[in-house]
Amino acid sequence: MSASPLALPPAPATLEVTRDRVRLRPFEESDLEAMAAYRGDAEVCRFLPFEPQTPDDIRGRIGHLFGGTTLEGERGGVVLVIETDGAVIGDLVLFHLDPEAGSAEIGWVLSPAASGRGLATEAVRALIDTAFDVYGLRRLVAQIDADNVRSAALAERLGMRREAHFVENAWFKGRWSDLLVYAVLDREWAAGRR
Ligand SMILES: CC(C)(COP(=O)(O)OP(=O)(O)OC[C@H]1O[C@@H](n2cnc3c(N)ncnc32)[C@H](O)[C@@H]1OP(=O)(O)O)[C@@H](O)C(=O)NCCC(=O)NCCS
Repeated sequence: MSASPLALPPAPATLEVTRDRVRLRPFEESDLEAMAAYRGDAEVCRFLPFEPQTPDDIRGRIGHLFGGTTLEGERGGVVLVIETDGAVIGDLVLFHLDPEAGSAEIGWVLSPAASGRGLATEAVRALIDTAFDVYGLRRLVAQIDADNVRSAALAERLGMRREAHFVENAWFKGRWSDLLVYAVLDREWAAGRR
């Protein structure tokens, strides 16, 4: 098998993305309290792969990514906070880079206080723009518990394609869970850019 023809650009030195109502930037230690306000909520964590988190829990789990902009490396990944009017209302992750395939995974969490206004939609659109335009990726994937109706609705609203529905493929938080896999390619995103 020959090597993939992909040559991904170097990670940007800094990252800041501004849209109508949201601003994305790499998370910092000083964001932990604000992040714990929603990541500490059991309902928010229902479909996330961790229990409600304190600032220390967040630091322990992803503190090595503070301020980071690189996807490379075994523990690489970029965590961006979503700000509205200067307040942190959620966070996004771009991780699990496969450099040969030019693919990575995206994830999202929004404070319930900010929900229902399209802010996650706007923020994830900006994340997808960034993944394709800045990181030069060609494919993005989102993995969603089939019972996570709001998250699946977000993926659908973004125009991502449902590529798989794995039935009872994992024991998750006390039950057998179904997994949905959504994806979008750079050329598809560019064609329907919204
Ligand atoms: C998944 C999650 C981010 C979705 O949040 P959300 O508030 O539904 O998403 P948005 O901020 O895009 O808001 C969408 C709603 O705003 C409405 N809306 C208003 N203005 C809008 C606009 N300009 N653009 C898009 N939607 C708009 C939509 O119609 C939709 O309404 P609905 O709630 O009646 O369906 C949120 O539920 C969450 O963080 N869940 C917990 C964490 C989690 O499970 N993460 C995913 C793991 S895979």
